Amino acid sequence: MTSGDGGAAGSASCGPEPGGHPFVVAHRGASADRPEHTLAAYELALKEGADGVECDVRLTRDGHLVCLHDRKVDRTSNGTGVVSEMTLEQLRELDYGAWHPSRRNDTGPAATALLTLDELISLVLDWNRPVKLFIETKHPVRYGALVESKVLDLLHRYGIASPASADLARAVVMSFSAAAVWRIRRAAPMLPTVLLGDTSRFLGGGAATTVGATAVGPSIMTLRQHPELVDRAAAQGRALYCWTVDHFEDVGYCRDLGVAWVATNHPGRTKTWLQDGLTGAGR
Ligand code: G3P
Ligand code: CA
Repeated sequence: MTSGDGGAAGSASCGPEPGGHPFVVAHRGASADRPEHTLAAYELALKEGADGVECDVRLTRDGHLVCLHDRKVDRTSNGTGVVSEMTLEQLRELDYGAWHPSRRNDTGPAATALLTLDELISLVLDWNRPVKLFIETKHPVRYGALVESKVLDLLHRYGIASPASADLARAVVMSFSAAAVWRIRRAAPMLPTVLLGDTSRFLGGGAATTVGATAVGPSIMTLRQHPELVDRAAAQGRALYCWTVDHFEDVGYCRDLGVAWVATNHPGRTKTWLQDGLTGAGR
C-alpha cells in the first residue's frame, strides 16, 4: 500500500522500496499536539505532511458515524454519556478540546467540535495531496455489523469504495475484529484492510488469510517481540501497519525492518526524522 503520490516510499504494495522509509499515519490526527479526532488535529497532521490519517468510528443512536475512540464521551469532552445512546445533535453540543493541553493555543470552537466520518472524508479528499484515510471500526458494539455497512455506504457515496488498486485507494478499513474485516472484504473486495491484533500468534496465524486482510497491524510492543511478522506478512503478500510509533528508536526500528506504515501521535516530527535519515538532528 502506498499513498499513490509517487512519494518517498515508492509504490511497492507490501512495504517501502529498498532504501525508502515507512509512510506516516497521523494517529487520531496530530493527537499529541491537538485534541484527538478533532478538525484541529487532522488539519495540523495534513499541514505537517502526514501520508495518512487514522480515525476510530462509532455509530450514534440515530445512525451517524462519528470519530470517537472511547465507548463514552467522558474522557475527551466536557460531557458524559455513551456514544451509542446519544444522538448526533446531543454529541454536537459538547466540546472535544477543553481537556487537552493545547487549549491554551485557542483554536476556536469549530476546530474542537465533534467530527463526523463524513466531514473527515471531505477534508482528506479535498486536501491538495492524495492522503489515505485509515478508518478503524470498534467492536464489540451495540450496532454490530451495521457499523461496517454504514462505513461502506459512505465510501460508496464518495466513490472510494472500489479503488483500482490498493496503491490508489484513498481509504483503508481496519479492525481488531476479524469478522469486521471479513465483512468489508466480502462487500468491497478492492478496498484495502488491516487486521489489527495484540498478539503475534493471532497476526502471524491464519486469521489474516481467512478474512482476506491486505495488511496486518501489530503494536510496536508486539513487533519488537516478533519482528518476523514483517517478513511473514510480506511472504503472504501483506503489508504491515504498526501502531503507535512515537519514539525515535521505534521509528528507526520500523524503518529498518521494512514496515510499510507507522501510525504516530507526532506526524510532523516523525516525517522530519525520516526525511533526515534518522540522524538524530532536530530530535
Ligand atoms: O491504529 C491502530 C490503533 O489505533 C489501535 O489502537 O486503541 O488506539 O484504537 P487504539
Ligand atoms: Ca484506533
